Amino acid sequence: MAIVAMAFPRRHAHASPSSFANHSPASHHHPPPASFYPRALPLAISMVLLVCLLLPLQNRIVSVETLVAANAKDHGQALKFVAQNWELYTLEEAVTAVAKNGTVIVCVVTYPYLAFLVNWLVSVARQGRQDSVLVIAEDYKLLRHVNKHWPGHAVLVPPVLPASEAQRFGSEGFFNFTSRRPHHLLRILELGYSVLYNDVDMVWLADPFPYFQGEHEVYFMDDMTAIKPSNHSHALPAPGRKGRTYICSCLLFMRSSPGAKLLLRKWIEELHNQSWTPRVKPNDQPAFNWALNKTFGEVKLFLLPQESFPSGGLYFKNKTWQHQTSHKHVLIHNNYITGFDKKIKRFTDSGLWLLNNDTSKESFSNLQLVANFLKMQASESAG
Ligand SMILES: *[C@@H]1O[C@H](CO)[C@@H](O)[C@H](O)[C@H]1NC(C)=O
Ligand SMILES: *[C@@H]1O[C@H](CO)[C@@H](O)[C@H](O)[C@H]1NC(C)=O
Ligand SMILES: *[C@@H]1O[C@H](CO)[C@@H](O)[C@H](O)[C@H]1NC(C)=O
Ligand SMILES: *[C@@H]1O[C@H](CO)[C@@H](O)[C@H](O)[C@H]1NC(C)=O
Ligand SMILES: *[C@@H]1O[C@H](CO)[C@@H](O)[C@H](O)[C@H]1NC(C)=O
Ligand SMILES: *[C@@H]1O[C@H](CO)[C@@H](O)[C@H](O)[C@H]1NC(C)=O
Ligand SMILES: *[C@@H]1O[C@H](CO)[C@@H](O)[C@H](O)[C@H]1NC(C)=O
Repeated sequence: MAIVAMAFPRRHAHASPSSFANHSPASHHHPPPASFYPRALPLAISMVLLVCLLLPLQNRIVSVETLVAANAKDHGQALKFVAQNWELYTLEEAVTAVAKNGTVIVCVVTYPYLAFLVNWLVSVARQGRQDSVLVIAEDYKLLRHVNKHWPGHAVLVPPVLPASEAQRFGSEGFFNFTSRRPHHLLRILELGYSVLYNDVDMVWLADPFPYFQGEHEVYFMDDMTAIKPSNHSHALPAPGRKGRTYICSCLLFMRSSPGAKLLLRKWIEELHNQSWTPRVKPNDQPAFNWALNKTFGEVKLFLLPQESFPSGGLYFKNKTWQHQTSHKHVLIHNNYITGFDKKIKRFTDSGLWLLNNDTSKESFSNLQLVANFLKMQASESAG
């Protein structure tokens, strides 16, 4: 028992940002159920599990498959055991396991966004980058679902927030949910990794990494819709009507450098200062833009080319422009529209909703999460 407990260190209390501590109802911490301990498993499996667990996390992922293959009749039980154990992994363990070349691709998602997550993931997999994806789950349902079908690719940073409101754009719950993002990103940079953050209502049409060139610390895209010349400057644009810029917090590539960390700390501070009110209904993006403004000159910034990283307000609304620049597109963001159904319809109409029969014929190595989603979808439409 003691060995198991050591192999699965509980998350440290300091792992959760202090600003969240005041809304962490105890009921949202799920202690492992008594059945968590391998008492009920046959001795042989317990021994194998112990060995697996004492290996570094990378090896655990492989070991789980080996274990499952070797004990087909205990498959279900072993998977259940593993799925429960992922709940105890720290962000550090998870990042260490999935990062490639010191870089991790991160999204921050709740279960209601599963379809968008899978759609985004298909597009990432088409560029061969799926192995370094880490899903930061903001509820236990998503954590368990992802780790069940794609072991090791989801992690949860407690405490979880009350989930019900988190999906309504503009709500206080949504604000609280998005406010956690800079904390997660800062922790990853502090662990020494670079991070590419994406909202999951995005689709990759090409690999974005070749665009993260040079010695800059933070790369981002403009959320403005006005068409810029293709040789536009890559510096921070001039502030707009509200006295600040409109940089999108939907896509961020950050290196583990002092400037990037400074920007994230300032973003957190800005979020803290502008608390949510029904009148103002802020989201996290203005705070990010004020942080860019206040750290200006201290952070090496790079504005990505508009033709390759257009705002949804440009891409979806000007078909002429979309057609003219089609060979340049890299990431498409389905914004300037709210609501799941409307977003799905718009992606479908533009050929960017990838969860269909054609997709199911593609072979994504090791992507059970996608296969399972397509199966779930098919059985729903059949039923
Ligand atoms: C690994 O990272 C370095 C530095 O960020 C970069 O120059 C290099 O191209 C990357 N290699 C691969 C294979 O992505
Ligand atoms: C959002 O966070 C604030 C401050 O921590 C808290 O008072 C409020 O109850 C939270 N709202 C929701 C809907 O979770
Ligand atoms: C872009 O090109 C135009 C003409 O080709 C030139 O006048 C302008 O100065 C260039 N802008 C930048 C930012 O290089
Ligand atoms: C920062 O914001 C102030 C107030 O809107 C503005 O005057 C200033 O130009 C901004 N600085 C930068 C670098 O955008
Ligand atoms: C946040 O508020 C505190 C206290 O009012 C102030 O000292 C600090 O400068 C503010 N920070 C930002 C980034 O506005
Ligand atoms: C749409 O794009 C075309 C081609 O870039 C441009 O000439 C036109 O002004 C744009 N229309 C609007 C309404 O912005
Ligand atoms: C997939 O194909 C089946 C049968 O060929 C059809 O019933 C179903 O609607 C299709 N699903 C999608 C998402 O296209």
